[in-house]
Amino acid sequence: MTARTANDERIGRAGGKVILLGEHAVVYGVPALAVGLERGVVARVGSEWASAHELEIEGWGVVVRPDDGTDLGSAFAALLQASGERIVACPRRVQVHVDLPPGGGVGCSAAIGVAVAQALDGTATADHVMDRATAWERIFHGNPSGIDVSAAANGGCLRFVRGEGITAVHVQRPLHLAIGATGRASSTKVMVEQVAAMHAARPAEVLEIFGAISERVQSAIDAVSQGNLQVLGADMNANHGQLSALGVSTPELDELVSIARGAGALGAKLTGAGGGGCAVALATSEAHAKELVAQWQRAGFDGWTSASAARQTDATRLYPVAVGL
Ligand code: MEV
Repeated sequence: MTARTANDERIGRAGGKVILLGEHAVVYGVPALAVGLERGVVARVGSEWASAHELEIEGWGVVVRPDDGTDLGSAFAALLQASGERIVACPRRVQVHVDLPPGGGVGCSAAIGVAVAQALDGTATADHVMDRATAWERIFHGNPSGIDVSAAANGGCLRFVRGEGITAVHVQRPLHLAIGATGRASSTKVMVEQVAAMHAARPAEVLEIFGAISERVQSAIDAVSQGNLQVLGADMNANHGQLSALGVSTPELDELVSIARGAGALGAKLTGAGGGGCAVALATSEAHAKELVAQWQRAGFDGWTSASAARQTDATRLYPVAVGL
């Protein structure tokens, strides 16, 4: 084994995301609207070859190897396989610094997959990185639409359609977002299966909800590109009701939403898979977003503010860089 120079050390970075409208329906081909967050993930691959591939998530106290029986190990194995023999044959230690809540609906696992895929292979194209991160995501999510990986890899404000990919959405006025956490992690896989069971049992009802979601997503995309934040907020509120009708909200998510609306949010909804995780609220200004977080904290919830990252490069520039990187 050849020791490599420090110049061989590679860094991968990816941002989290919030879905502003369209989660769950997006799995069935309905468009969705997402924005990249400033917070995210940094992965570092050391300059030396290791005795075996190893992935460490700093702060979680977790170190896994491919196929060690853990979900994380299986996902790492899937990512390595998708990266090809050249990467599989060179065992490396990957250290990952995560600044997103796991199971929080803000794209934590996709951001890890993208950052690790980038760090493992400096020659990978953006499409290769997304393919490899998608192989990783399938272990956790079973049937991912691809929106989380696309948002993590590209950032910015984007319209996503399963099978078609992303279109950048022009943001006419900055989006000041507050993200509130229920503190309860949820499994995207379980929530997607729950909606699939409802879809199988009551297809007409679910398809009608998907149709209504599709209309709101289009309205919200127009609103973002025209800077009409009142309309965007109303669309987010309506989308929360639609997601509740799909059975994915919880009392804690409803409480976060109701606190934010009571404190003047233009709109508030659960974001991501639901069943726990986070809610997102659209504030009128940065100060207002901070006030929404303060209101949540008074009620015992955690939260943070984020301006939407205009591009992935912004997300990685703004994201507080991990120690020593
Ligand atoms: C999860 O962030 C979004 C879901 O729509 C699942 C997916 O699109 O893969 C719930």
